[in-house]
Amino acid sequence: MLTACTPAFLDDLAAQLPPDTLRPPEARHLQEPRGRWHGQAGALALPRSTQEVAVILRACHAAGVGVVPYGGGTGLVGGQVAAGEMRPVILSLERMAAIRAVYPSENVMIAEAGVILADVQKAAEAVERLFPLSLASEGSARIGGLLACNAGGVNVLRYGNARDLALGLEVVFADGQIWHGLKRLRKDNTGYDLRHLMIGSEGTLGVITAASLRLAPRPARQGAALMVVPDPDAALRLLALAQARMGDGISAFELIGAMGLDFLAQTMPQIRQPFAQPPAWMVLIDLGLPAGLAPDTALEELFSEAHDTGLVLDGVIAASLAHRAEFWALREAIPEANRHIGAISSHDISLPLSEIPAFIRRAGPALARLNDYRINCFGHLGDGNLHYNVFPVPGRTRADHAAERDAIKACVHDLVHEMGGSVSAEHGVGRLKTADLVTYGDPVKLAAMRAIKAALDPKGIMNPGAVLA
Ligand code: LAC
Ligand code: ZN
Repeated sequence: MLTACTPAFLDDLAAQLPPDTLRPPEARHLQEPRGRWHGQAGALALPRSTQEVAVILRACHAAGVGVVPYGGGTGLVGGQVAAGEMRPVILSLERMAAIRAVYPSENVMIAEAGVILADVQKAAEAVERLFPLSLASEGSARIGGLLACNAGGVNVLRYGNARDLALGLEVVFADGQIWHGLKRLRKDNTGYDLRHLMIGSEGTLGVITAASLRLAPRPARQGAALMVVPDPDAALRLLALAQARMGDGISAFELIGAMGLDFLAQTMPQIRQPFAQPPAWMVLIDLGLPAGLAPDTALEELFSEAHDTGLVLDGVIAASLAHRAEFWALREAIPEANRHIGAISSHDISLPLSEIPAFIRRAGPALARLNDYRINCFGHLGDGNLHYNVFPVPGRTRADHAAERDAIKACVHDLVHEMGGSVSAEHGVGRLKTADLVTYGDPVKLAAMRAIKAALDPKGIMNPGAVLA
């Protein structure tokens, strides 16, 4: 049983910390981007160092007070907001925003948890390296939260998820002990990999305070194209052809459907539409090549080969880096357009690549048996991750939709599960999908997860209610 943090507890804790480390909770930490949860908290802790995080956790552990670790607050599954009556401490890493060291010759950077992703990217660029994690919220998401949630984004096809970009971690465990795991090694076979246990634990096992990050060489030449494909099956065959021609040069391969373009036209008309007639399906192909190779030529050759065989119907190749940025602005505006459209059932799913066309063929008719909906299906086709978002038809209210949410979710997730997919691809479990984990998760895995939680956080103070309800 957790206890709310009382004034006496806070006074006692404050006495162990520098002035202004504890504050009353602030509204900005009690909201989340989709407005589905409103958090409650007894205090906001703003530690400046790993030692201070340890002091806070030791006290919370001793008293049985809940702790919600907080990064940039951009998560979409409610992992950063605890509702209910227990009034936990929100532990925001925002003051721990130092880049501790950069080792260009090793392709390694050590960053504290509170560094904003865009600043990690800039620090890598300053030494002519690339930190390849990239997603729409990179201007506010912080590296600790991104790792805790194993964020994905647009470059997973080429560089992997957040977990593939961390070589080591510094973590404060629930009882206040510090694990000094900031290794800069590619090989370290010394038993259980706590790094991979912490990554994706969404703040339920401890607090990541710093990470040793893997950098990559910076592609010298970048390019992009939008290519219209007849259907998702052709999109996948185009991916295979592109990989055969360009190998690892493909940084991203994103799917965009007509509904996404329609939502953009309706709600964000300032975004230039690439084709006069919005195509049913198109892909955004992004290339990063070494010096000496020309992305435009590679994309032109891919286009003409694919066009000759009917795999591609139309296309536009970015004429400049600004033009490429325009393609990405369009892609990244789709979630915002979704929010403007209003009531939304969003599903962050992944499937075995070859099952994606069949999933898309089956999911629409399955949903149509429930009601008429608008479906905006888009996402990271190259790595098998779709954002399968379902909206009511115009005229229906948010309340009408709310009543159908559970049935819509079950319909989509049942099919994903049946086809060997995952009901959480890149956004995590948070508080949104705890029941799905029980419904679709492997029971042996779940039991092991509960055993790990009980071992590392016996009082259950860490992000209570997230992942394991
Ligand atoms: C995206 C977010 C929704 O891919 O994950 O735009
Ligand atoms: Zn995504």
